[in-house]
Amino acid sequence: MDNFEDFFTEAFETATLKGNLVTLKGIRENAPGAASAENIFATIENSRDFLAEHLPWIPETDIFDLKKRIRSWVLNERFGQGGCWLIFRNSPTDPEGDFAGSIMMDVNLRNRSATLSYWLAKQFTGQGLMTESVKLITKFAFERLKLNRLELLVSVHNGKSAAVATRCGFMEEGINRDYELINGKFVDHRRFSLLARDVY
Ligand SMILES: CC(C)(COP(=O)(O)OP(=O)(O)OC[C@H]1O[C@@H](n2cnc3c(N)ncnc32)[C@H](O)[C@@H]1OP(=O)(O)O)[C@@H](O)C(=O)NCCC(=O)NCCS
Repeated sequence: MDNFEDFFTEAFETATLKGNLVTLKGIRENAPGAASAENIFATIENSRDFLAEHLPWIPETDIFDLKKRIRSWVLNERFGQGGCWLIFRNSPTDPEGDFAGSIMMDVNLRNRSATLSYWLAKQFTGQGLMTESVKLITKFAFERLKLNRLELLVSVHNGKSAAVATRCGFMEEGINRDYELINGKFVDHRRFSLLARDVY
């Protein structure tokens, strides 16, 4: 592909991705209802201790900071540098579904690669929602965006997240030493990747 950058910037949007268990919708500023910053913040608040164990940004996040982050994801999307999808658990009664968490993609355009990160509110774990979310994003990244490599970095203490990576077919590559400063301690991370040629 000669002009991949142009292709990518046109192709990239946090398109709605629909699965059996979840629907992923691009994050938006000033969204109403379940997708609003206020509801996302309330969901984080309810799971704060659970999320803070592995996510370094949780302790410093208040509603103002969250709104700034949302703005920055929207700008990233506009410039084809990444995106954030909200995860809704499909519901037989509510067409909007239940807001459960989010999944983010940071794109490195030059290398046609992206790093994924994600979280679920505690009450939505144990149901396979993240496994399906990662599979939906993976398909979108390879088939629509024509990326070549997806990467996941998981704390050595985060067995649940490593299990998501493994269930989605990611291969473990090694350890990134002192990769993240979490709650005052540098933590080693396991690096997982999935290449387009692993799948197609
Ligand atoms: C990491 C995290 C998303 C994993 O959540 P999870 O619920 O374990 O992952 P999934 O949504 O894929 O669900 C898998 C679980 O549901 C079960 N499950 C039920 N139905 C399933 C289905 N149809 N498909 C797959 N798994 C299913 C699995 O057996 C598994 O449970 P187990 O761990 O008891 O065996 C969650 O722990 C989290 O948000 N943690 C805090 C933030 C964080 O660590 N983020 C990642 C940083 S790298």
